Amino acid sequence: MRALDGKVALITGSSRGIGAAIAQRFAAEGARVAIHGRDAAALDAVRQTIRDEGGTVACVIGDVTKHDDVERMCLDVERELGEVDVLVANAGGSFTRPGPFEELTEEGWRATVDGNLTATFFTIRSVLPGMKRRRAGNIITMSSAAARRAHPQSPVPYAAAKAGIQMLTQHLAAQVGPYGIRVNCLAPETILTDRNRERIPDAQKASLVDIHPLKRLGTPEDVARAALFLASDQSEWITGLIVDVSGGAVMV
Ligand SMILES: NC(=O)c1ccc[n+]([C@@H]2O[C@H](COP(=O)([O-])OP(=O)(O)OC[C@H]3O[C@@H](n4cnc5c(N)ncnc54)[C@H](OP(=O)(O)O)[C@@H]3O)[C@@H](O)[C@H]2O)c1
Repeated sequence: MRALDGKVALITGSSRGIGAAIAQRFAAEGARVAIHGRDAAALDAVRQTIRDEGGTVACVIGDVTKHDDVERMCLDVERELGEVDVLVANAGGSFTRPGPFEELTEEGWRATVDGNLTATFFTIRSVLPGMKRRRAGNIITMSSAAARRAHPQSPVPYAAAKAGIQMLTQHLAAQVGPYGIRVNCLAPETILTDRNRERIPDAQKASLVDIHPLKRLGTPEDVARAALFLASDQSEWITGLIVDVSGGAVMV
């Protein structure tokens, strides 16, 4: 018996990076996984990898900042795989450059808040009625170390949106616990996704390693293992928790 046998899991933002690692890990643990993104070619590659490893996978495409897209995606998942037991609301990112507060643009602010906090709201709202009806479900949201402590170079809209996701997680956990639904949140420090490997200069990677007591940067698989713990019955008495996946760089 594997940890997620018989479960349907939707992982948003799984065409690459952390989401792809979570989808692969969940599929290896027996879940039928729905992978999601906007880049069809990247989704095809993740789908093929999961199939090659013997997993069951469906693909959905849509923009998580658009309510109608999210509703349609969730219906597509239900039609192809069945009702969603585990949701990982992972899609997101920072869509503004860090900089002096007064130079932040309205457009950048809205893009980041919509792309993280509003997207998380839309995604959860689409799967929650089914979970409440079945009186079972598991929701994992995605924050960031940026929302766990202040830093002068942090992008403020991103940190604020992710902090909002943490509060959303805890209030929702309090509201839906009586329905047998657990809601927890992951808060990773810098993770060496393909994008970050390319984007972050080597010297900056070295100085980032220095702030981690475990003396390395995190990998997508580190986050995927933490997600598996929250998605599985191993954590059945845990809800409303923010899990720092940070090699000790964040201790709150
Ligand atoms: N990497 C880190 O160091 C780190 C640290 C802390 C927290 N996080 C959080 O972890 C999550 C994943 O990060 P990552 O580094 O793996 O990101 P990534 O490599 O940039 O991948 C982002 C994923 O989200 C999807 N996505 C983003 N905005 C979307 C939208 N509006 N509609 C639909 N799909 C959207 C992308 O889809 P397409 O590419 O197909 O469009 C892609 O699959 C994010 O919430 C991020 O904020 C990351």
